[in-house]
Amino acid sequence: MGDPKPASSPEGVNGSSRFDPNFTQHVVDAMGPKTSPRMRQFMTSLIRHVHDFARENELTVDEWMQGVELINWAGKMSNDRRNEGQLVCDVIGLETLVDEITYKKAAEAADSVTQSAILGPFFRHDAPMREKNASITFDTPKNAQVVYMHGRVLNAKNKQPLSKAFIDVWQASINGLYEQQDHNQQDCNLRGKFQTDEDGEYAFYCVRPTPYPVPDDGPAGKLLKLMDRHPYRPAHIHLVMLDGFKPITTQIFDAESQYLENDSVFAVKDSLIVKFVERKDDPQAEMELKYDILMVPSDEVGELDPPLRSSGIGSGY
Ligand code: BEZ
Ligand code: FE
Repeated sequence: MGDPKPASSPEGVNGSSRFDPNFTQHVVDAMGPKTSPRMRQFMTSLIRHVHDFARENELTVDEWMQGVELINWAGKMSNDRRNEGQLVCDVIGLETLVDEITYKKAAEAADSVTQSAILGPFFRHDAPMREKNASITFDTPKNAQVVYMHGRVLNAKNKQPLSKAFIDVWQASINGLYEQQDHNQQDCNLRGKFQTDEDGEYAFYCVRPTPYPVPDDGPAGKLLKLMDRHPYRPAHIHLVMLDGFKPITTQIFDAESQYLENDSVFAVKDSLIVKFVERKDDPQAEMELKYDILMVPSDEVGELDPPLRSSGIGSGY
């Protein structure tokens, strides 16, 4: 790419008057009458923003083609184990922004509701149901710290426990890989589904998470390098909660982890930072994490969102 060009010029705001002033509207107007209102809204906005982006930056054919090749590369790299398109969105903060927009209503319905965070590409719909107090760590590496994680799922409005709520949990191993990325881990290692008991309690053994890099051997990694950024995520555990309540997709972050301030995918929120403490008198675990989850009744915020349904959350329970 050549020298940066000015984003504005004396010829008009962002140089726009140097180019055909009617072209963008002409492209928008090409949509036919059968376009749905939402699609018309999306495409009008998308076409306007993309055209403005091209004009503002005086995008050349070579530069545009590099962008096209990056999108094609992401498509070719993606399969049922890897979602590179999602990862490209993640490193530019798009999944976190969409998450904030989607769950703003739930957060407004109760001030104390557990905040959401992005799903990320490593969720599996088919994690096995496990009993309360079961372990999700198998063939635990010698240098991993085992954690007893437990808590209650509560109605954020009245703090009453929610029994029979589903919790789906997954985490990377301490080598930085999720089981589907690592043939040395057994199927569904470090993941499982649990259901709260009559007191709203859940509990399981897992490992204390460690920071890991997002996969950086594809276009997302290339973008990170071009932007002079590292690929690391702070140590975290993923959770999805489902009940008759508004589902919550979130992550909790170890307060002692590196990268809390500069997560490569911008998912950290203060309220999701947790402290692991020493656990005594449990031969199975040296650390403990108590974490209560607060959910909002779905009648306060509407039905299960269609995007969650289509991502498979909400199925398989
Ligand atoms: C994850 O935490 O699993 C993740 C999130 C976004 C991109 C890559 C990985
Ligand atoms: Fe993760």
